[in-house]
Amino acid sequence: MCAFQIRDTFIPYNLPDITDQEVEAVAETVRSKWLAKGPRTMQFEKEFAEYVGARYAVAMNSCSAALHVALLAQNLQPGDEVITTPMTFASTANTIVHAGATPVFADIDYTTGCIDPDEVAKKITPRTRGIVPVHYSGQVCDLDKLYALADQYGLFVSEDAAHALCSRYKGRLIGHKLHDTASYSFYATKNLTTGDGGMLVTDNEEIANRARVLSGQGMSQNAWNRYAKGGKWRYDICEFGFKYNMFDIQAALGLTQLHRLEDMQQARLRIAKLYQEEFAKIDACDPPVVPDYAEHCWHLYVLRIRPELLTIDRDRFIEELNARNVGTSVHFIPVHLMSIYRNTFGLKEGDFPKAEKHFERLISLPLYPSLSMEDAQYVVDAVRDIVTKYHR
Ligand SMILES: Cc1ncc(COP(=O)(O)O)c(C=O)c1O
Repeated sequence: MCAFQIRDTFIPYNLPDITDQEVEAVAETVRSKWLAKGPRTMQFEKEFAEYVGARYAVAMNSCSAALHVALLAQNLQPGDEVITTPMTFASTANTIVHAGATPVFADIDYTTGCIDPDEVAKKITPRTRGIVPVHYSGQVCDLDKLYALADQYGLFVSEDAAHALCSRYKGRLIGHKLHDTASYSFYATKNLTTGDGGMLVTDNEEIANRARVLSGQGMSQNAWNRYAKGGKWRYDICEFGFKYNMFDIQAALGLTQLHRLEDMQQARLRIAKLYQEEFAKIDACDPPVVPDYAEHCWHLYVLRIRPELLTIDRDRFIEELNARNVGTSVHFIPVHLMSIYRNTFGLKEGDFPKAEKHFERLISLPLYPSLSMEDAQYVVDAVRDIVTKYHR
């Protein structure tokens, strides 16, 4: 076997896939002078809803906004509890607080990193109103079990699909035949990006209408074209709404990315396949396991290491990758370990052992459409080199 050679250039952990098509679409929008929410945002909503197979899509300026609005549409009251996972970005839980409810955490299924329905069942009380499951990294929650719990106890399900555009549960895309709502992120690192942005999808007309009002400053009517000829200038504010809407420059990016999505996904799948095959051969690596019911969209490639076979821990492993010019990230530090959550809700280390174990072992490796197969192979070789050097 050849000795490992450290390359000269750094492989970033993530790069958005931007082509001349995106540049042209944005330039055309800017030239059109319709920069705010307008025809492109409407078109993006229409095509996105068709793509995932939901009746309505409401475009927003982030997934956090979509998650917040999805919860507001459920009319939560102080004292209401909403169950979510600690293995997520803070915004999932923050929006529960912003919507006036109390977040209650349930530990993960260690195989997928997603919330474990059996743990959810243990957390249901008379105050529970809903569940916010996160399709972590592009893995898919066990939706049949979660929906069955929701039906049994009369709960809503607001899916955090920030990572899950193109993931499938039992053959159907996330967002198709959903319980209540799903919210997607178009942040710069996501499988489809608008720079920042998000989308709420639902089959429920009432929720869709409420989401449009709440995300548009609470205006009673769809006021985006009130400056057009014949547009109605009179409006009412019927809710304490938010400035959460998407605008057309973002939507121009989003539409172009949506049209290129299948190609971008194929590139992700090729890299993920290589990683899955190669890391399975390295004993100190624990590659993701995709349940039979799911198709993973590989938003993130989350590799777990087995520190018990190594003389170094995960943090040092990341430093070693960095020294070999491989960029990484960590998704996520469990939310219950954040100071505001500890201090407000009395949470502490040890509360969610599976999420904590997962966190201590995980490394998110580079995975994006423009990552070449040679670079992906280099990432594998770098991991193997570190394991060989630090094996017990
Ligand atoms: C699981 C999860 N949920 C929600 C969000 C919030 O997304 P956004 O940045 O679009 O608000 C993120 C952000 O990356 C996330 O990872």
